[in-house]
Amino acid sequence: MTTTTVPAPLGEEAARLDADDPLAHLRERFLLPEGLVYLDGNSLGPLPAAVPPVLTDAVHRQWGADLIRSWNTHGWWDAPLRVGDAVGRLIGAAPGQTVAGDSTSVQLFTALTAAAALRPGRPLLVTDPGHFPTDRYLAESVAGREGLEVRRVSPPDLEAFLAAEGDRVAVVSYSPVDYRTGELYDMAALTGAAHRAGALVLWDLCHAAGAFPLRVDDLGVDLAVGCGYKFLSGGPGAPAFLYVARRHHGDLVTPLTGWTGHADPFAMAADYTPAPGIARARIGTPPVLSLLALEAALTAFEGVDLAEVRKKSLSLTGLFLRCADELLAPLGFEAVTPSDPARRGSQAALRHPHAYGLVQALADQGVIADMRAPDLLRFGVNALYTTHRDMVTAAVRLRDVVRTAAYDPAPQPTGRVV
Ligand SMILES: Cc1ncc(COP(=O)(O)O)c(C=O)c1O
Repeated sequence: MTTTTVPAPLGEEAARLDADDPLAHLRERFLLPEGLVYLDGNSLGPLPAAVPPVLTDAVHRQWGADLIRSWNTHGWWDAPLRVGDAVGRLIGAAPGQTVAGDSTSVQLFTALTAAAALRPGRPLLVTDPGHFPTDRYLAESVAGREGLEVRRVSPPDLEAFLAAEGDRVAVVSYSPVDYRTGELYDMAALTGAAHRAGALVLWDLCHAAGAFPLRVDDLGVDLAVGCGYKFLSGGPGAPAFLYVARRHHGDLVTPLTGWTGHADPFAMAADYTPAPGIARARIGTPPVLSLLALEAALTAFEGVDLAEVRKKSLSLTGLFLRCADELLAPLGFEAVTPSDPARRGSQAALRHPHAYGLVQALADQGVIADMRAPDLLRFGVNALYTTHRDMVTAAVRLRDVVRTAAYDPAPQPTGRVV
């Protein structure tokens, strides 16, 4: 790794902001490799310190010694609802409305299908043309199965679309944050617009849960999904979550009627009777080790005010955008994340034609970011552990990589994750 020469004003600004950071102590709740600048927690959160001891106990004592009795004695059976409620606390959901398990994609299938059934006679499913691919693909597949039609409408165009066709829309399926640019949309306004048209709203909170305060109950959100492995730091392939507002539970019909969602699973009944409440969204045997890891990871948020997290996150991305403006714009980088804090999620993205090679070269210099094809470099921040110094270091090392031409300009090879 090369030594980094940081322009004095930026270095001093970062040092001042870090010295005044009321959340600085939270970094100890994560086991980050010494000296690494990790700006990819919007893809895979780092390992929380609370996780290894919990997993060691779960493997050796619970699984190894207590064996099958652990379903009762160690709370394995109730884990999907217990961990669901723990996620619920971070998204503004009162207990009993959130279940944890399966992947975001599976939860999206359940949520979209259930939403369509809750709005019979409305033939349109609205999604964002810029939505994450799995959301777009599943919208198409659910629409095909349910005899609906997908309309791809960008969030800024929703009001106008609903004015024309709102009474035909069953559900609007959006993410509050664009996964590429980090642009933040107004959840309250979009939820209100969908409701005024009589449609339901389904939010994908992958890039929001744990990143800033959410108020799903207060906003009257109907359904939400999200993953456990980004800002919640639950580990690779962590269980996802599904939130369904309590007012819909009585009429909630889920498409995947697995035995653990049955009202009395151990009766082994001939026919399916859904469990009351969100428990009916359980499907099969839960991934216990992953749920326990996610549960332990969520303790990193104990005593943390998400309003403070939001404030610091904006300070981090704001400083990075300033660095980008001063150090990187002259080298051909374009910031695509809005400079307006009200329109910014918890990441900053830069456009450059050699994004893939630059991200690889940055990793060699001890800065982990990621890219989205064809030309976006993404820098995710998590206020629980990211420092202002990290942001300046990332920008300076990126400048140096470009200045010294120390990268391969080849595009992303097919099949590479990062
Ligand atoms: C908005 C959004 N939805 C869904 C996913 C992924 O879904 P899954 O957890 O099923 O892989 C991602 C992954 O980055 C995402 O950004």
